[in-house]
Amino acid sequence: MNDLNALPADFTWGVATAAYQIEGAVAEDGRSPSIWDTFSHTPGAVAGGDTGDVACDHYHRWPEDIGLMKQLGVDAYRFSIAWPRIVPGGDGPANRAGLDFYDRLVDGLLTAGITPYPTLYHWDLPQALQDRGGWPARETAEHFATYASVVAERLGDRVKDWATLNEPLCSAWIGHLEGKMAPGLTDLRAAVHASYHLHLGHGLAVQAIRAASPDARVGIVNNLSPIEAASEREEDRAAAVRADGHTNRWWLDPIHGRGYPQDMLELYGVELPEHAGDLATIAAPLDWLGLNYYFRQIVTADPTGSVPYAKQIYLPGARHTAMDWEVHAEGLEKLLLRLTGEYGAQRIHVTENGSAYPDVVRADGTVDDPERVRYLEEHLAACGRAARQGAPVAGYFAWSLLDNFEWAYGYDKRFGLVHVDYATQRRTIKGSGHRYADIIRSASRRARRAA
Ligand code: IFM
Repeated sequence: MNDLNALPADFTWGVATAAYQIEGAVAEDGRSPSIWDTFSHTPGAVAGGDTGDVACDHYHRWPEDIGLMKQLGVDAYRFSIAWPRIVPGGDGPANRAGLDFYDRLVDGLLTAGITPYPTLYHWDLPQALQDRGGWPARETAEHFATYASVVAERLGDRVKDWATLNEPLCSAWIGHLEGKMAPGLTDLRAAVHASYHLHLGHGLAVQAIRAASPDARVGIVNNLSPIEAASEREEDRAAAVRADGHTNRWWLDPIHGRGYPQDMLELYGVELPEHAGDLATIAAPLDWLGLNYYFRQIVTADPTGSVPYAKQIYLPGARHTAMDWEVHAEGLEKLLLRLTGEYGAQRIHVTENGSAYPDVVRADGTVDDPERVRYLEEHLAACGRAARQGAPVAGYFAWSLLDNFEWAYGYDKRFGLVHVDYATQRRTIKGSGHRYADIIRSASRRARRAA
């Protein structure tokens, strides 16, 4: 693990979760339904008919979960705030009980010496706003900024590090084009408009957070994949350019003031719902970039498929997680270097990275997950190598603290460093959690020696 020596002494070691995936308590203290409540209760939408109704019951068990973070020794916790708890109608009055919950959580974290990194939107749009058009409608972006300002006013005295959106690609492309996530649409125009208004909402929220809390450090979290052509054939190389546009450039160019990629605008053939000044709002300067990394994509041309007419191929000899995602840590190094070289990133947090495996609690009460340990070590080493080559990698947040509701896959896929027995809500730190704690301890020792 020598590569880790290249990470900065003040590197942030964190874990991440998201509201709908862990909180449960969906009808408590004034929370209204979100699009994920609707989607997960739609027959056939989620494996096993699972829903987030109870999830990890974190809404009630958060003190125990902070205790787990202390055992892991993390510096920071990335969680998301549920918009339907804060502004149940999507717009209109704020809900004091919802704000109180996150207030208690933030205080609990700070008391434990853990820095809160809230994300304002991790896919749980209030259903009330979906009923009025959802992200394809401009008003949703405006309401998002109002909600951001309510939260920042309440927590901004203690929270400094904010993310606006988590993985807008999934909200727009998977939710509105592929139909595999809420709200379950398959409509290219709606998807492109959703992506645009997510970006606009992000830009407006950056302004709102800074207005409420001038010393806030604000970022956005994108999930990116390095793209490779499956062959040297001209068609495959063109497919790789399209897939890169769809997965990476569409999400990076506008927030860096480059507008939307022309080749993709032509490919989608959808006019943007642009108003004067929007692109400048979308390109608000940020304090950090969040990178969620899981896999690379090797693609071949797929002329009869759907946008972006590129199909991922499955590498037979490669290692894959339970999600069937290839394990390829070099992809993380590549992306960190690309954000640095091509986009001039000044500060990057790896805001998610992790792996699902079918873990079981053994008779002696332990959970042995050597594949996840290896995955963790390899990806941390990739961060170290990128740092050595000049990438400003400031932190790593393991996905996830807990096994949780893995969206359309339900509870079957376990990403946690901590195992959750959903019948009893018993938490057990897995081997990978213990390994992460060791890595953090050694890094802190190194940092102290270097000081
Ligand atoms: O569980 C998700 C998370 O909500 C967003 N990023 C990817 C994770 C694993 O699929």
